[in-house]
Amino acid sequence: MELMIIETIDFRKGKVVLLDQTILPLEERLLEIESVDRLCDSIRSMEIRGAPAIGIAAAYGVLLELENVLRGSMPDPPSYLFDHGADTASIVEFGVDAETITARLLGAAESLSQTRPTAVNLFWALDRMRKAIERCSDDPARLFSEIPAEAFAIHEEQLDIERRIGRHGEKLLSDGMSVLTHCNAGGLATAGFGTALGVIYAAKANGKRIKVYADETRPLLQGARLTAWELGRAGIDVTVLCDGAAASLLSSGRVDAVLVGADRIAASGDAANKIGTLGLAVLCERFGIPFYIAAPWSSFDLSAPSGDDIVVEFRNTQEVTSFQGRRTAPDGIDAYNPAFDVTPAGLITAIITEDGIIRDPSEEGIRGAYGGGSARSNET
Ligand code: MRU
Repeated sequence: MELMIIETIDFRKGKVVLLDQTILPLEERLLEIESVDRLCDSIRSMEIRGAPAIGIAAAYGVLLELENVLRGSMPDPPSYLFDHGADTASIVEFGVDAETITARLLGAAESLSQTRPTAVNLFWALDRMRKAIERCSDDPARLFSEIPAEAFAIHEEQLDIERRIGRHGEKLLSDGMSVLTHCNAGGLATAGFGTALGVIYAAKANGKRIKVYADETRPLLQGARLTAWELGRAGIDVTVLCDGAAASLLSSGRVDAVLVGADRIAASGDAANKIGTLGLAVLCERFGIPFYIAAPWSSFDLSAPSGDDIVVEFRNTQEVTSFQGRRTAPDGIDAYNPAFDVTPAGLITAIITEDGIIRDPSEEGIRGAYGGGSARSNET
């Protein structure tokens, strides 16, 4: 069976194109982003969100700056220079030196790094882009070919990684199982296939019928709006529940596994994911349910010794005190609004990566996994 890819983000005709995740599922609107400042706003406001997707967005942000600095220097610029899917344009004459281009690209990378602090994929992708800039900073002609090549590679490699995560993870699921997930770790949050939801899609492609329970995921409803939307269009049986109903559902014996994504996994195996994930892991331990994380190596941060070293983003309190623009809490009431929590490694049954399943998600288990994942993950 053919696996469906969601076109969450791409670089087309000199612009970053995004599927606006703030208005799904009511409207499927594509945004064409023409400046790095606007892209930073998109990441902050979560028009594009999910750890791998914001990594790809950051890489495309650097490419967008290159597009703009080059075209801005041409007396008679073409309508665009770079396009994913078309051959890179043959090198054109431009009126700007390598030093200026390098400074602009590094400036764009710095702005993009200030958008959201928790998902390490953003920093991982910017690190790759910075290395590409440095490799060819004295040669504008190389910048012209290597910056797009690196950005498109980050996008394409991620899609392949997601398929591999799906293939490994689906072995944990049997026909007829019920799985609970939290937030959205699907095609919308990634290069288009998903991590946690990629496992479900791969199971379906392998003929397994999987029922999914999707936590609503307060306050921004990634579960009710996004996970339900994409599972529904893939023909997967999905039921939405309030976050507060998860305890009673898990105690009922109707869920065989909890399966989520991650925004950053420390060397210890402690894993940050959407607020509410920790509670699910505690419930899984209480009720004897396996708790799985599906994440690429680019979500591991081996320079962070433990979960205490992961920066958790706190977001505007209005996300909690208002709903769809209307105040729901009394005026003057404060709110506690962390976007993520950290699940200790001891509560995680296994982590599904593109190389295989880490069944001992401890520091030893992670560093020893698949020839030393540290070589491929964030480590300073
Ligand atoms: O705040 P968000 O919506 O960007 O948070 C997303 C999550 O927590 C996802 O579960 C995580 O990024 C994994 S996505 C494959």
